[in-house]
Amino acid sequence: MLWDETIRQSILGRLSGYRYTHTLGCERAAKWLAEQYGGDVQKAAFAACLHDITKRLSRDEQLYLCDKYDIIPCDVEKVEWKMLHGKTAAAIARREYGAPQDVADAIAYHTTGRADMTLLDKILYLADFIEDTRDFDGVEPARALAKKDIDQALLYCFDSSLSDLVERGKLIHADTIAARNSLLSQGVTRAQH
Ligand SMILES: [Fe+2]
Ligand SMILES: [Fe+2]
Repeated sequence: MLWDETIRQSILGRLSGYRYTHTLGCERAAKWLAEQYGGDVQKAAFAACLHDITKRLSRDEQLYLCDKYDIIPCDVEKVEWKMLHGKTAAAIARREYGAPQDVADAIAYHTTGRADMTLLDKILYLADFIEDTRDFDGVEPARALAKKDIDQALLYCFDSSLSDLVERGKLIHADTIAARNSLLSQGVTRAQH
């Protein structure tokens, strides 16, 4: 895997402002989660550094990358086009940085989750949610759960982001429903806190 400090610095050099700080926070959280749950620390860092690399792009730029990399937006992504940054970042990770498929997949699904998430998928999704600069209602319970049980923490994240989407009258991506259903059918239960 092509990952070293030079590559890391070249990725981080493409980010600025809050996104840079958030990405560093996400990298720290992802490495910590990988250590905690026996994941690949290097892959977790690689995925975290690249996960929001295309987030600042406009709708037209996102659609241009979709076209270029054969990404077909679903009906929800056509409306909530900002979600596409996961998939376009994954394409950049593959093509420009030679990221392995599992790293690219974790990046692709960090905005929605998916059914049968891998440990790396879970690490990135959760790191993005709980990293140090995050400051919203519900982040503390998620952080506490992340120390105890990654699946319960993840279920908590899906529940709270789904409630938030319902409350704001937003569309819900089918992969997020699939991710939550998949955790529940594997016997993961809501934590009491
Ligand atoms: Fe993101
Ligand atoms: Fe992020």
